[in-house]
Amino acid sequence: MYSEKVMDHFTNPRNVGEIENASGVGTVGNAKCGDIMRIYLDIDEDTKVIKDCKFKTFGCGAAVATSSMATELVMGKTIYEALEVTNKAVMEALDGLPPVKVHCSLLAEEAIHAALWDYAQNHGIVIEGLSEPKADIHEGEEENEE
Ligand code: FES
Repeated sequence: MYSEKVMDHFTNPRNVGEIENASGVGTVGNAKCGDIMRIYLDIDEDTKVIKDCKFKTFGCGAAVATSSMATELVMGKTIYEALEVTNKAVMEALDGLPPVKVHCSLLAEEAIHAALWDYAQNHGIVIEGLSEPKADIHEGEEENEE
């Protein structure tokens, strides 16, 4: 059912934890399944490069694996490049997810966006292409299922 990469990131998740004095923190949940994900970003003030990224996920195995892969994908990227790390990109990097688990990968994308949004708010800047994230991805999930 799950690819080797999903199983690897689920059993041995990368970048678990939190960052003290993070540049941005994003928390999103899915009210339908009750899963919650929080992402911490440490962003270089000058270059806007993500120097460190950690996550905590209270959720299913697919949510853990996608969070883990998402932190690896955004690390070393600028905040603008990180915006392009979509749930599709995360799923591709994991060699796919079963259709019923696709919504779990949305948590990772939204948590990154929420952390970038928090960073922008804290620093009084506007990140082109980033809109205010939802705290609950449930609505988006229903749209995607139809
Ligand atoms: Fe809720 Fe996977 S079942 S995130």
